[in-house]
Amino acid sequence: MKNQYNDLRQWLEQVKAIGELAHPKGADWNLEIGGVSEIDYKKRGPALLFDEIKGHAKGFRILTSSTNSARRLGLTLRMGADHNDASLVEQLRGAPNRWAAAAKDFDPVFVDSGPVFENVMQGDAVDLMKFPTPLWHALDGGRYIGTGAAVATIDPDDHWVNLGAYRSMLVDKNHVTMNIVNGKHGRTHCDKWMAREGRAPVAIHIGMDPLFMILAGVEVPTGMSELNYAGAVRGEPVKVVKSTITGLPLIADAEIIIEGWIKQGETTDEGPFGEWPGYYVSGTTQEPYLKVERVLYRNDPIILGAPPAKPPHDYSYMRTIMKSAMIFDALVSAGIPEVKGVYAPECGGGRMLVIVAIRQRYAGHARQAGFIASQCREAAYMGKYTIVVDEDIDVTNLEEVLWAVCTRTDPATSIDFIRRAWASKAEPMLRPGEPAFNSRAVIDACKPFEWIADFPRVAEADPVYLRELEKKWHGLFDIRLPH
Ligand SMILES: Cc1cc2nc3c(=O)[nH]c(=O)nc-3n(C[C@H](O)[C@H](O)[C@H](O)COP(=O)(O)O)c2cc1C
Repeated sequence: MKNQYNDLRQWLEQVKAIGELAHPKGADWNLEIGGVSEIDYKKRGPALLFDEIKGHAKGFRILTSSTNSARRLGLTLRMGADHNDASLVEQLRGAPNRWAAAAKDFDPVFVDSGPVFENVMQGDAVDLMKFPTPLWHALDGGRYIGTGAAVATIDPDDHWVNLGAYRSMLVDKNHVTMNIVNGKHGRTHCDKWMAREGRAPVAIHIGMDPLFMILAGVEVPTGMSELNYAGAVRGEPVKVVKSTITGLPLIADAEIIIEGWIKQGETTDEGPFGEWPGYYVSGTTQEPYLKVERVLYRNDPIILGAPPAKPPHDYSYMRTIMKSAMIFDALVSAGIPEVKGVYAPECGGGRMLVIVAIRQRYAGHARQAGFIASQCREAAYMGKYTIVVDEDIDVTNLEEVLWAVCTRTDPATSIDFIRRAWASKAEPMLRPGEPAFNSRAVIDACKPFEWIADFPRVAEADPVYLRELEKKWHGLFDIRLPH
């Protein structure tokens, strides 16, 4: 599909046109923006563009709830706004594989300048306090300027550029933290730089087309730049400017970019922060920080805020939809036949619970699907439960999935475990100081393959007959009962 817009301003126009944008004015950065946004996530409300934020210049804005509806997420993924949850998942099937295959044809285009250069603060002039950075949750250890961020790093050997969504907390007017979990691409890049030069270049995009937040926040294959991937999604290359400070490519029409170097052995207190599993898990730890060399920002800049918390939170919907499609594709690529549905619900943050539906074809098919769905690159990090069900189960309906678990499993034989798997300090069950492993359960909730034909029949009327009855007796079902 042809690109419909390029930057956040055009994205906002599109969202306004579908009636999903609200303009709260006068909110306080101190908990109020976080609180109002939290209400909005739970109500599945509109995108919120906060302005006239207490103590800050008019025009210095924050956007939250950017991708929290099927219509907004569809727009962001260039799939149109005419969507509900099911149609979006359906349209996304196969798309991540197609984008990944097309990415090589969409190298970013280098340009001399762009709107993000409208304002430049450099050296001693850097003052991050200009921006209305929220204190998102009451127990946060600081104000997080980088939540829905896209952090650019580069591999010093083969020069592939990664964009990762990694959080950053304000330390003072010209220092911010950088928190990248072990094993993530940005961390690998920085570790290589540290070993070589004792410092690593970083450019944090703080506001931009939310497509970059999505791609930076999901597991795009190793070695493939999210800049190329975004070009493939848009259908045209991304425009970037080569930084004279860090050498990194900067998205030319971003809203705000913070640049600098993290240095070997230089760390500071970071956290706690309300995290995506729904807890303040990692407490305060020592993390690297950047001395900010330069800040670029557009006139009337917009921070793209995406704070996590107990789900549903700012990006749990996006992650659920993206992960479901990406794990689906990973299973197909790994040669698993007859995959009928994949869903990674928001209650597990799109990671800790993955449900896969298959039409069983051979003995062992269900466990094969379950183990791969648990350990493929798209799902390995911070997974916990993988449930494999038959195709008659709707993977998006947790009642139905748990009915299958209750009725098609024998706990002693239907559950397998993987130990010492890839977790992180965001794992609430990890005791302080323990290494970041967790275990996994693969629950085979499919009818036992060897007696599938004889398995008790489901006691439910034929759905076609039920649809006919619903039409015939429609008046009965129009009566609305109070909840
Ligand atoms: C809004 C948002 C915030 C995130 N914050 C962090 C973070 O602070 N640290 C981290 O390691 N991963 C964080 N993640 C997860 C990573 O961005 C995600 O695992 C991504 O795939 C990392 O990129 P990589 O695969 O290129 O390493 C966040 C994701 C999102 C969507």
